[in-house]
Amino acid sequence: MAGEIWVLGATGRTGREIAARVAQRGGMPVLVGRNADRLHKTAADLGLGDAEVVVTDDLPGEITRRRPAVVVNTIGSYAETAVPIARACLPGGHYVDLANDLVAMPRLLALHDEAVAAGSTFVTGAGFGVLATEAVVARLCADRPTPSQVRVDAMASVTLDGGPLGEALAQSIVSGLTTGGLRYEHGQMVRTRLAADPREHALPDGQTAKSAGGPTGELLAAQVASGAPDVVATSGLMPTAPVVRALLPLAGALLKVPALRRFAVRRMAAIELKPTPRPRDHSWGHAVVTWADGTVREEWLRAGEAMEFTSGAAAETAVRLARGEGRAGAYTPARALGPELAEAASGTFVTCQP
Ligand SMILES: NC(=O)c1ccc[n+]([C@@H]2O[C@H](COP(=O)([O-])OP(=O)(O)OC[C@H]3O[C@@H](n4cnc5c(N)ncnc54)[C@H](OP(=O)(O)O)[C@@H]3O)[C@@H](O)[C@H]2O)c1
Repeated sequence: MAGEIWVLGATGRTGREIAARVAQRGGMPVLVGRNADRLHKTAADLGLGDAEVVVTDDLPGEITRRRPAVVVNTIGSYAETAVPIARACLPGGHYVDLANDLVAMPRLLALHDEAVAAGSTFVTGAGFGVLATEAVVARLCADRPTPSQVRVDAMASVTLDGGPLGEALAQSIVSGLTTGGLRYEHGQMVRTRLAADPREHALPDGQTAKSAGGPTGELLAAQVASGAPDVVATSGLMPTAPVVRALLPLAGALLKVPALRRFAVRRMAAIELKPTPRPRDHSWGHAVVTWADGTVREEWLRAGEAMEFTSGAAAETAVRLARGEGRAGAYTPARALGPELAEAASGTFVTCQP
């Protein structure tokens, strides 16, 4: 397969797994990071001792100089990092990230015309977050008129290995809290209460899971995939307990103060996670689509452990882009490569009657 696939943040939780899966799929991963010893140790641990390692503090500069075929950004803080790194891939290089928030994703998607003009493909949200629900919406809406309402629910089941939470994830959590609740009404994104619409789902495998509304990129992707004027997105990562939900608006307001935000990210990043098995057998993406004539269609995407699905989704996206399978422009993953990308990332669609 032609071209290097650079994995930025290759010593991190998702970066290392993506590098391993790129190699399993016949791609050429290059491990990119800030610390040579940790990169070489990661390469050795993954059985990728032959893989090239790039050590740099200037990611856009190094990408511009060395021109990899594809860059996978797992360093997080996507609202700030995505645009300069994606632009460094122009012309002709491709870009993939794992953003799932409503600040970073619109910024990357706004580069669509630049990417088209330069023959590059940019994909944002190439993880469980976005792809697991977007793929279901895309399938339910294929070859049908525009629906009136869409609801998506993302219920990740994650194994925690232990160790510090890390700054990338801490930034994502705080970004969600400060964005506040959002939904689409009459085609407009409007404010709503954070963790609105809490509900408990009877999952197709007989287990149950709870979710509540959150300002995730899944909301934007579901609206774009369906064109529906009314869209709600919920996440199993949002708290559903009434007392916590009641405190969220206050926490979100406080975290908008820059000094408090920096403090919270630092403290949260240092939190030591206890090794914890995944709470359920499966992770689930779910969508219910309603048309004006009263037709309702519902489908699920069943995946295993959500981080494994994420690594598979990002690696599959990168390898397909390296093979030249993407069309030029900036997209969410199912829009770039079709909903079957979710199956290639180890998901299975499960249809049931509403
Ligand atoms: N959409 C989804 O479903 C999904 C799923 C999983 C994760 N994510 C997102 O993916 C991101 C990564 O998550 P993770 O759990 O893999 O994080 P992580 O374990 O903390 O790894 C982050 C990696 O990025 C590097 N890094 C951080 N800041 C950097 C910077 N400014 N410059 C260069 N390298 C930097 C770190 O290197 P050092 O060791 O040198 O600090 C580390 O290798 C997060 O934003 C997370 O929210 C999304």
